[in-house]
Amino acid sequence: MNELNTPLRTIMTPGPVEVDPRVLRAMSTPILGQFDPEFTKIMNENMAMIRELYQTKNHWAYPIDGTSRSGLEAVIASLIQPGDNVLIPIFGRFGHLFAEICERYGAVIHTIECPWGDVFDPEDIISEMDRVKPKFVTLVHGETSTGRMQPLEKVGHACRERDVILIVDAVATIGGADVKVDDWCLDAVIGGSQKCLSVPSGMAPITYNDRVEKIILSRKKVERGIATEEDHKQFTSSPIRSNYFDLSQLQDYWSDRRLNHHTEATSMNYALREGLRLILEEGLEARFRRHKLHEKALVAGIEAMGLTLFGDPTCKMPTVTCVNVPKGVDPDAVRNTLLNEFGIEIAGSFGSLQGKIWRIGTMGYSCRKENVLFVLAGLEATLIQQGFAVNRGEALQAALQVYVSQKKQKVIG
Ligand SMILES: Cc1ncc(COP(=O)(O)O)c(C=O)c1O
Repeated sequence: MNELNTPLRTIMTPGPVEVDPRVLRAMSTPILGQFDPEFTKIMNENMAMIRELYQTKNHWAYPIDGTSRSGLEAVIASLIQPGDNVLIPIFGRFGHLFAEICERYGAVIHTIECPWGDVFDPEDIISEMDRVKPKFVTLVHGETSTGRMQPLEKVGHACRERDVILIVDAVATIGGADVKVDDWCLDAVIGGSQKCLSVPSGMAPITYNDRVEKIILSRKKVERGIATEEDHKQFTSSPIRSNYFDLSQLQDYWSDRRLNHHTEATSMNYALREGLRLILEEGLEARFRRHKLHEKALVAGIEAMGLTLFGDPTCKMPTVTCVNVPKGVDPDAVRNTLLNEFGIEIAGSFGSLQGKIWRIGTMGYSCRKENVLFVLAGLEATLIQQGFAVNRGEALQAALQVYVSQKKQKVIG
């Protein structure tokens, strides 16, 4: 077997994306024991930076070891008990994922759906909430399968007024678009590492407030082999069904008690720390502006080429651009040529959109001018090869124009 030698790619998918070189360097830091004060200091630093990322004063803000869906499952497993009413508005694949996980934990689910490519009018969610009277609402913020972003603020306030717990999947938006946990009254929020954070897949930073903690503590159980007499006295008739995803145990581990749960993923904590440091160094507002700028350049190029965008433009995610596959063009052949000839990866989609759209991500470290220009150049050349009549040479000019006018604005500003 040869030494690992992977090709260098330009990754323009909605995740995983290119990892910042500083993060890769941090990952080669020597391992520390999980109770070493030098390491628990890093855990605390990560908690503090996750709070800033989520714009929250919540005490609980820490990563779940696992991919983003491990964060979704940890929150759902720890909160939802058999028979709980859950309202799940679905506008793409990941709404269905919420429904799937909630069902497995015994929830009585009520789903409402809107066409893929749209989002819900918040009033429609609120009136459904008044009809169903759920204990929980789950909502995806950035639906990567359709490239749409659901406004959360009104729903968040409505949930708070009705004492409903709102669980949000911000996997694809956190670090790339505003997620104001406290201002928008989001009770539990799950993020992902491999998208706008530019860290490899394998960690899901979550945050939750006191309302959520109260439910978790009512189900608290300490593992028999490590429980003290005091722990044994705390009896619960409804312990959290999952051991790995038991937030009552995980919060003990992420507290000063440092009660052992699993062996912490040391190198991923290093990676997350550097990813978070990079975000806070850049500044949240500046980072969101950067994502909007490159999205604008990409969209200008796509449209100038003669292609059309999929979905309602008023709720488009700034971090994902969905492009309609033109008639007569083989979507997979285009993606294969981009990968094999240019080393560029873009994505297809799922379910009813499979074969109909391409999804191009502009996330985190991948969200750079040279990547946007390269993907436009590669796409144009590939479409010409496929016999599609593109407006030759116009895509790059349109994208460059966006960058030029942005520079001019800066100078004037
Ligand atoms: C919006 C959203 N939620 C959840 C997930 C699941 O994430 P993971 O594959 O990291 O478990 C994804 C992954 O693409 C996603 O885009």
